[in-house]
Amino acid sequence: MVKKAVIPAAGFGTRFLPATKSQPKEMLNVVDKPLIQYSVEEAVLSGIESIAVITSRGKSSMEDYFDRSPELEQFLEEKGKIDLLEEIKRISSLAEFYFVRQKKALGLGHAILQAKNYVGREPFAVLLPDDIFECSKPCIKQLIDVYSELKASVIVLGRVDEEGTKKYGIIKPKQISERIFQVEDMVEKPGPEKAFSDLGILGRYVFSTEIFDAIKKTEPDKRGEIQITDAIRLLLETQPVYGYLFEGKRYDAGDKLGFIEATIDLALKRPEFSQRLREYLKEL
Ligand code: G1P
Repeated sequence: MVKKAVIPAAGFGTRFLPATKSQPKEMLNVVDKPLIQYSVEEAVLSGIESIAVITSRGKSSMEDYFDRSPELEQFLEEKGKIDLLEEIKRISSLAEFYFVRQKKALGLGHAILQAKNYVGREPFAVLLPDDIFECSKPCIKQLIDVYSELKASVIVLGRVDEEGTKKYGIIKPKQISERIFQVEDMVEKPGPEKAFSDLGILGRYVFSTEIFDAIKKTEPDKRGEIQITDAIRLLLETQPVYGYLFEGKRYDAGDKLGFIEATIDLALKRPEFSQRLREYLKEL
């Protein structure tokens, strides 16, 4: 039912400077593949067939990455490196890719709005590539299943501490079932005093198509950015929105420490690294 996904990847990556001065944050390597590939694979495993990546100037290496690379493929074939060849080909055939430029850094809501013509009139998924989810059922599939049941937009929720109220949008919840909450209100990064709850919005959403009208009506915040959280608040005036407390683990790889944690944990899960890395970490 949800076949299209949008991956906003147009930001400057300021939290990762200087590494992101001349390369996209989304192309930074986590164990052995770029950060964005985790979101792409999660989407594909969830039944998504086509993906629009929202990019900006200086980030065209993402387009090359998901394209075929005939010279490299020929080189690997000649050298008999068949496993690598298959892997390189697999990446370009993961999904149908579209790339849309956000011409000015006007916020996450504005970035998502750039996909309006691509999406057309159907529900769609949004995956923020900063978040890596490790779940037995892919996180965006968990949301798609709730969307199918409730026929309304769904956002992923996680419990956050005081620090988290400064980093994430926070919802005012009405509990419907163990993991499903109806969203009564929400506020972007309120801080502990103004937080409605400890339920923070993480980087996965499934939206009904009406979100685009809501984004268009959304006023920029004091930094001049159109926030998706403000757009969802407007959407709430015309239709219900639900939050889903996902099952699994999430890494905030959009932050230097979270990125290091994700790298260590994901490497520990890999049979070829796990024992030696564990021994190395014990020695420290
Ligand atoms: C965005 C959203 C915020 C959400 C967060 C999840 O913020 O605006 O509501 O909690 O993603 O990662 P950003 O991280 O782009 O500042």
